[in-house]
Amino acid sequence: MPYFDVVIVGAGAAGLFCAAQAGQRGLRVLLIDHAERVAEKIRISGGGRCNFTNRHLDPRTGHQHYLGQNPQFARSALSRFTPQHFIDLVEKNGIAFHEKHKGQLFADRSAQDIVRMLLDACALAGVQRWQPCTIETIEAEAASRSGPSRYRLHTSQGLVQAHNLVVATGGLSIPKIGATDFGYRIAKQFGLPIVAQRPGLVPLRFAGEDWAPYADLAGVALPVRISTGEKKAAIAFDEDLLFTHRGLSGPAILQISSYWQPGQPLTIDLLPHLDIAAALQEAKASSKKQLPNLLAQWLPTRLAEAWCQHTPAWQGPVNQCSDKALAQLAHSLSHWQITPSGTEGYAKAEVTLGGVDTQALAQQSMQAKQQPGLFFIGEVVDITGWLGGYNFQWAWASAYACAQALQAASA
Ligand code: FDA
Repeated sequence: MPYFDVVIVGAGAAGLFCAAQAGQRGLRVLLIDHAERVAEKIRISGGGRCNFTNRHLDPRTGHQHYLGQNPQFARSALSRFTPQHFIDLVEKNGIAFHEKHKGQLFADRSAQDIVRMLLDACALAGVQRWQPCTIETIEAEAASRSGPSRYRLHTSQGLVQAHNLVVATGGLSIPKIGATDFGYRIAKQFGLPIVAQRPGLVPLRFAGEDWAPYADLAGVALPVRISTGEKKAAIAFDEDLLFTHRGLSGPAILQISSYWQPGQPLTIDLLPHLDIAAALQEAKASSKKQLPNLLAQWLPTRLAEAWCQHTPAWQGPVNQCSDKALAQLAHSLSHWQITPSGTEGYAKAEVTLGGVDTQALAQQSMQAKQQPGLFFIGEVVDITGWLGGYNFQWAWASAYACAQALQAASA
């Protein structure tokens, strides 16, 4: 029966990187994935260009860009493998990249260059890959028994033994390219707690009367300030908003969706860089423009028209509007409150919030505290990043921490 120092389940971002790092450290590594194609999420990420990290991630405060029951858990790994470490690798491999927006780094040519870099590193490090291969059962030897083998896996390619088992099976997002709940099931098998999952970085749906005036605006986009939550839980993002056929999307919505709780309203400032109340008063003194035409100076025309169409007081020339009507218009534009009816679900979500409870893991190594030799890395863990390369950086950093620990344990 084949024997490995470590079997890694899931050949996505975290699994591939961990395999290469562990292999480079002299460990015998087997990487198993049930999907036909390797690293599908990297391939489709960042619009095909892979936003592989974020320059603005400060390792000392990195956890600020992450969600979970305890985002601080991420600090140890993020500070030991920083964005600069990954940038160095990308440069060493001759992959050209550029910064797009708020520190987000993308491959110039294709996300496939990042996949190729990871596969080459695995090949060079002697990593064996079984793919497609399904795991039927996992058995662990009783913790009290000593000896080289701790895990025995029954797979579609036969039985395999390993001293360590790393779970890198990701989250539930995009099931059609291979996402499963297998990692959570392994955690449950070994008695690890799970934080309830929900889709994150996901478009939001809207329905009903409140939404009716905006239902035909698909394609309209504009920069906004979006916020949700109250007091300590309040959070805001300055990003672009996009109207879609079923609701709202764009970076502003994806970011806020990870914080949004069902039933909560969102507050959107449609003109975050303008004092719209003052601008309307100024226009009243000097212009005879119809209000929708005036608003179209600052907003997309279709949105300006939709905004005014159901309120008679907002349809005449600006110089004939009452101060009260203009004040109400200004307030509606800077404090648009609307409550989503739901999300587009895992089919459209970029990430999964929740996952293996970090309380059950050691933050230095990602090893289960109560189960020697069992590790969880990447998105399967209850750590979820903001949009903008933070999720891949967590995948790289948690994989690196795990590989370091595997090396230390085998020394
Ligand atoms: P990942 O999902 O990458 O890999 C898990 C692997 O496990 C898969 O290969 C899967 O086939 C395998 N697996 C699952 N079940 C299994 C089973 N039962 N047996 C064997 N194998 C199994 N992030 C970012 O930082 N920048 C970006 O640009 C983007 N863009 C983006 C676009 C889209 C459309 C999506 C859906 C997601 C992103 N993300 C992103 C998020 C990012 O892709 C994600 O956080 C990482 O891929 C997570 O890496 P993991 O290795 O943890 O899981």
